[in-house]
Amino acid sequence: MSSRKKLIAGNWKMNKTSSDGVSLVAELVATIGKQSEVEVVVCPPFTALESAAKALDGSTLKLGAQNMHFEASGAFTGEVSAPMLRALFATHVILGHSERRALFGETDALVNKKVLAALKNQLRPILCVGETLAEREAGSTLSVVQTQLEAGLEGVGKDQAASMVIAYEPVWAIGTGKVATTEQAQEVHAFIRGLLTKHFTDVVAQKIRILYGGSMKPANAPELLAQKDIDGGPIGGASLEARSFVELVKAAAAVAVL
Ligand code: 13P
Repeated sequence: MSSRKKLIAGNWKMNKTSSDGVSLVAELVATIGKQSEVEVVVCPPFTALESAAKALDGSTLKLGAQNMHFEASGAFTGEVSAPMLRALFATHVILGHSERRALFGETDALVNKKVLAALKNQLRPILCVGETLAEREAGSTLSVVQTQLEAGLEGVGKDQAASMVIAYEPVWAIGTGKVATTEQAQEVHAFIRGLLTKHFTDVVAQKIRILYGGSMKPANAPELLAQKDIDGGPIGGASLEARSFVELVKAAAAVAVL
């Protein structure tokens, strides 16, 4: 069995005011705030980060952001930097989410700059990769994932690589209720693990968590999370309610002790 701790990350996207976020985090702290079998990260929008940080203080829950700029400070209207996130005790940052790529024009080169800046500031990047439906149907899933992964990891040293988290999120499965089959997901995860082995070493690749994201729900999570190379998931819709998110954490814990 793998020694990698499962990681469940709630990506709230553009949902919840600061006070709504505090209520959700308070419910999570009350139910799963002491467990440590699974690494649990909540990623609220920027405006709810500080209040969420206070609400989860003293629990095992961790805080992540959904994006950041690669520079530390300066004339970048509307942007937020890694040191600003660190000052709020964030430990993780989602980078290169397909919504950022598709709706905000983020390129592999930009995502790479963000990855390097996050690592430099001791933030763990959750680097997202994944193909569109058209790319899958054209048979180019693995080459798309390879390009995004290799470009995103350019310049990341072997010593830093274990801090990375990779998220495979097929675009066609995000928010659609269409989940990848366990075979489809495991195939891509094993492929990513192989690339990480080539890029770093086997020892390092075995330490890197590879998450599956895309309509993960309590009903489909146990089977996905039981796959050899699926080490958790970034959760969109099901992270917005305590009940479903807690069930997902429990599903990950159940697999972890098998
Ligand atoms: P859904 O769980 O809503 O499909 O979103 C997945 C996602 O984008 C996580 O980052």
